[in-house]
Amino acid sequence: MQPITNVEDLRELARRRVPRMFLDYAESGSYAEETLRANRRDLEAIKFKQKILIDVSKRSTATKFLGKEAALPLALAPVGLCGMQRGNGEILSAKAAAKAGIPFCLSTMSVCSIEDVAEDVNEPFWFQLYVMRDRKFARSLIDRAAAAKCSALVLTVDLQVLGQRHRDIKNGLSVPPKMKIANLIDIATKPAWIASILTAKRRTFGNIAGHVEGVADTSSLGAWVQDQFDPALNWDDVKWIREAWKGPLVLKGILEVEDAKRAVAHGADAIVVSNHGGRQLDGAPSSISALPKIAEALGDKVEVLFDGGVRSGQDVMRALALGAKACLIGRAYIYGLGAMGEAGVSEAIGCIRRELETTMALTGINKVSEIGPGVIAG
Ligand code: FNR
Repeated sequence: MQPITNVEDLRELARRRVPRMFLDYAESGSYAEETLRANRRDLEAIKFKQKILIDVSKRSTATKFLGKEAALPLALAPVGLCGMQRGNGEILSAKAAAKAGIPFCLSTMSVCSIEDVAEDVNEPFWFQLYVMRDRKFARSLIDRAAAAKCSALVLTVDLQVLGQRHRDIKNGLSVPPKMKIANLIDIATKPAWIASILTAKRRTFGNIAGHVEGVADTSSLGAWVQDQFDPALNWDDVKWIREAWKGPLVLKGILEVEDAKRAVAHGADAIVVSNHGGRQLDGAPSSISALPKIAEALGDKVEVLFDGGVRSGQDVMRALALGAKACLIGRAYIYGLGAMGEAGVSEAIGCIRRELETTMALTGINKVSEIGPGVIAG
């Protein structure tokens, strides 16, 4: 096997090892994928100012966000059905994050449950909340996250309705799945994936199955999930969630200054400037283009985190230069997970770390706190 030198290598490997329908699920954006493409295009357009002959022998990528030290300004983003890229995917990813000294965020729509991850991983993790129509259930998720000693609650605010991903529909990736013969044949060519799924703790939405009355089998679970995303969700819900959750609260999915300010007024400790990896409002601006004005408007009031299109240490540097405290990665680690399990997630984080260290050196930066607009050319 060729050595892995960057995240793109992990993506190539994942393409060979993960069934097409699940890789498509990870890669896709909504509708025409304009926003998905804009995330990458606008990051790549940002160029650095080279700085020469600065002593960078003692540089460090260590930083602190959401009250905790981290080895890198990086966290693993919440990803639904992570455990379908590789069996026990959430546990494997959380372990890789813990070893790398960065936070892992578990999605509400994960396969392994909050309790599964807490049982197998010593390091506290963040929990991402989708507020379902069934508010009692949403409240119980908050209590379960508190019982599992989750270190932050990430409330995702950009998914009251689901953006459509064409490929998921064509692949029959619905809940419950409507598998096509072509998908089954494709799956049959991925024996290692099959083995990992068959030996995993779970194969369905672990946070939901067994926790909702009247939802026992896969089809009733599917129907329940479909019906539960709530178009009525609004700022009043943020109030009760803020009261219910005592730890750090993060609002994820903000692209406008006004919304960012409102999040602060509602008691958020941090926000994530994000367009959900181009999976929700197609035609929304790239995350990186939305970042500077939000970071400037919020100043030091709360921490501004960032995601959308981050595939390298250079991208982390770009986001930090424009005001982010840290970045979340979604697909970059999902490719690693699909390619090589826990080792692949470690590889993805390792590639980004090494790229960031080199980029810091060549822009004359020794500490993460020194990264600012000064590193940008032009
Ligand atoms: C996501 N994302 C997401 N966000 C969230 O709050 N809850 C979720 O369950 C999911 N699920 C999910 C599945 C998959 C396959 C992807 C790719 C993304 C969005 C995610 O947290 C993050 O915002 C984006 O992934 C960031 O963009 P990149 O890094 O993937 O380009």
